[in-house]
Amino acid sequence: MNFLIDWFEQRTGLPTQIKTFLTEDVPGGPSYWYVFGSATLFAMILQYVTGIFLTFYYAPSSATAWESTKYIYDHVPLGWFVLSLHFWGATAMIALLFMHLFQALIWGAYKAPREIMWVVGVLLLVFTLVLGLTGYLLPWDMNAYFASQVAINIASSVPIVGEPTQQFLSGGAGMGTLTINRFFGLHVWLMPALLVLLIVGHLMIFRHNGSAGPPVDTDLKKLPQGRFWPNQMFMDAMASFLVFIVMLVLSIVAAPPLDQKADPTQTFIAYPAWYFLALYGMLRIAGGLPNAIVPIANLLATVIVPGGLVTLLILLPWLDRNPSRALRRRPWLLGITTLSVVIAVGLSVYSQLAIVKEQADAAQNKPPAAAAAPGSQGGSLPAGAPAGGGAQRLGGSEKGAKIFGADCAGCHGAGGQGTPSVFPNLAGNPDVTGDPAQVVHTVLYGLNRAITVNGKPYKGTMPPWKGTLSNADVADVVTYIRAAWGNKATPVSPADVAEVAK
Ligand code: HEC
Repeated sequence: MNFLIDWFEQRTGLPTQIKTFLTEDVPGGPSYWYVFGSATLFAMILQYVTGIFLTFYYAPSSATAWESTKYIYDHVPLGWFVLSLHFWGATAMIALLFMHLFQALIWGAYKAPREIMWVVGVLLLVFTLVLGLTGYLLPWDMNAYFASQVAINIASSVPIVGEPTQQFLSGGAGMGTLTINRFFGLHVWLMPALLVLLIVGHLMIFRHNGSAGPPVDTDLKKLPQGRFWPNQMFMDAMASFLVFIVMLVLSIVAAPPLDQKADPTQTFIAYPAWYFLALYGMLRIAGGLPNAIVPIANLLATVIVPGGLVTLLILLPWLDRNPSRALRRRPWLLGITTLSVVIAVGLSVYSQLAIVKEQADAAQNKPPAAAAAPGSQGGSLPAGAPAGGGAQRLGGSEKGAKIFGADCAGCHGAGGQGTPSVFPNLAGNPDVTGDPAQVVHTVLYGLNRAITVNGKPYKGTMPPWKGTLSNADVADVVTYIRAAWGNKATPVSPADVAEVAK
């Protein structure tokens, strides 16, 4: 045995390196407080393993993404379980990463000489969130589609880089195979590769600096020293094991559902991943503010607050000049951290309640296509239409209402009310009741630029309908949106549409 070790030692130096690695001192002794980093690493490794397995079956295209996911669920032996593990693994990884960050924050582990290690850690968090976001789209079910659409719209609202980012992410005007491919590439190649590089960096710097120890101001070397191996290692293993057990149980009892396949023509209220609920809540609040301040509130919600937070975190070791690590000498940092957490949790709860309520409303206000008995006169008005919005019974309105319910209500809302900051309202929208040729043009060819409706800005992607809808259909639906929900404007004939479609 010794002979073998010597043989390896002479050729690789590995045995000595492993020995120094394991016999590392832990100032103040080993502690369960130190397990978050290794538990995150464990969750990450599990994500790589389950993720690689999933790529053996998953086929990224709009014709196969949902189908292959369903196949994994239904036909691959234990496929549902691996998928479920991957889903819960993402949650575990992000939750543990946040705990790791907060512990380093509260214990002052970001202070000199660990600034660079901290910065690498913050970048790891950002890239992991991107991993979560890009993975969310891949099953290509209704929730994946609509939640990612909101995400892409948010990305597009960033000044200067927003437009190209949106173009890159969606890979064209609407969301389709190219969008899946872009998200797939980011999710399985770029982000995991960056993550590995950063983790290696993070650990190498850790080796250099050693453990930060407890939050005290005494010289670390004067503290009683514990052993990494086997004591701390045992605690780390116990924590990872616990994480694994919790993930196993959740994966079995709460496998994530696969909705029906993405269908942009259906109504759907998307539910973002829990770690983006706070961001989504801010966006909703911004969209509901008085018109004059919506643009700036939007910018705050989508760019300034999240970007500012990340920048603050990155710069923290240099912003916080307080040399002490002791908790009671750092009331400011602890106060601001607590306040931020309370605000983030509050926003998430608000967001959660708002989405649940919206989903309940949507379930009640079935789009007219489903709710209206064919031929019934008044039944074609969406139930969600504001009171007093009696549509004039113009020619083609009945059919227009149906097309609207099937093709447009998914984004613009059954009552034409839209979604603040994401999909413009069509009810009470002067563009809709304005130049008919312009409205027809938008429906035929789509729209993909910054617009302002009643003072509120929108910048998303309206899909083109030429080829999907006939000229007569477009005439009907445009006539409908110009006359429903209190809108009052002239009807549009198929000949008018043909004129624009030329
Ligand atoms: C996938 C979501 C989606 C669907 C489905 C959709 N739209 Fe849109 N629509 C949008 C977005 C986003 C915008 C804003 C585009 C922009 O900001 O450039 C928009 C803009 C519009 C506008 C222009 C509003 C203005 O103020 O200029 C009209 C009109 C419109 N849509 C009508 C329709 C009709 C009619 C349908 C159904 C045939 C439909 N939309 C289906 C997302 C959608």
